[in-house]
Amino acid sequence: MSPSIPLTPEQDETRQSWNLATAAHNAHKKDQGRWLRQHSSLFPEEVDLLGDIRGQELLHLCCNSGQDTLSLQLHHGARCTGVDLSEVAVAAARQIAGDAETTLPFVHDEVLHFLNHTPARFDVVFGSYGFLPWMHDLRAVTRGIQRVLRPGGRLVVVEFHPMAWSFDADFHLRDPYFAPGTFFSDPVSDYVGAAGGALSPSGHKELETDYVNPHRSHAVQHTVADIVNALISAGMKIERLEEWPWSNGCRLNPSLVERGPEELDRRRFVPPAGLPSIPLMVGVVAQRA
Ligand SMILES: C[S@@+](CC[C@H](N)C(=O)[O-])C[C@H]1O[C@@H](n2cnc3c(N)ncnc32)[C@H](O)[C@@H]1O
Repeated sequence: MSPSIPLTPEQDETRQSWNLATAAHNAHKKDQGRWLRQHSSLFPEEVDLLGDIRGQELLHLCCNSGQDTLSLQLHHGARCTGVDLSEVAVAAARQIAGDAETTLPFVHDEVLHFLNHTPARFDVVFGSYGFLPWMHDLRAVTRGIQRVLRPGGRLVVVEFHPMAWSFDADFHLRDPYFAPGTFFSDPVSDYVGAAGGALSPSGHKELETDYVNPHRSHAVQHTVADIVNALISAGMKIERLEEWPWSNGCRLNPSLVERGPEELDRRRFVPPAGLPSIPLMVGVVAQRA
């Protein structure tokens, strides 16, 4: 770990947890670079919110192993930079970029540290599917995003809905929706293995592993109001706010079922028949004033 990246104890243990999990996740995915040369890993929801990004400088926060970052560059025309705390993820992203025959900067850094120190400026800042819960000081992060955006630049976020984390496996209420100042501390699981292919579009390898992650990751719960108010407090103008009754790629709760028989809906998850719909994803577009 570079001594120039200051981390709290929670962030450092989160880094170690993601290092182990990311290696396990990538072991399930076949030849990602070759697949990414031909395909985009993005879902329609983020493509819609991002709009036309051809030729734009895009910063992807919490990019993990860069599959979506590479897709944004190779198939949606942006010039991308990816940032992630896990050195294992960043090394994998650089390797996959080489396999996909493209180059872009993958930066090993903590998001807030990067936002507060980079001299670079961007047209779009993007984060998705496991970004906001790692931002322990959301207001500082939105101020940092405002700092690195060019005037008129946009933040685009597609995230699992905070409400989705309140249910247990039987769909009973378990965790509070409102939990300011609380860390939710669990090891990052091998959820890619558990997804059985929904998160491995390049091809899925079932592995005989006894995956154990001794490191806890420390996430926080931001309500929708917390997210909106952090953007307002940073002086950003909210252009769109969306909620969706399904979760893309990730079976957030073992009770969730595939949305339907179509290929895309087999990678989207909803509550089982008989249960009412609830919001499982949230999206926001905000513009720098
Ligand atoms: C669920 S993954 C994000 C997946 C991502 N949306 C993608 O495109 O593949 C969460 C990532 O956040 C990273 N992370 C967690 N806390 C961070 C922080 N404070 N700064 C930078 N990255 C962080 C982890 O290392 C991990 O790679």
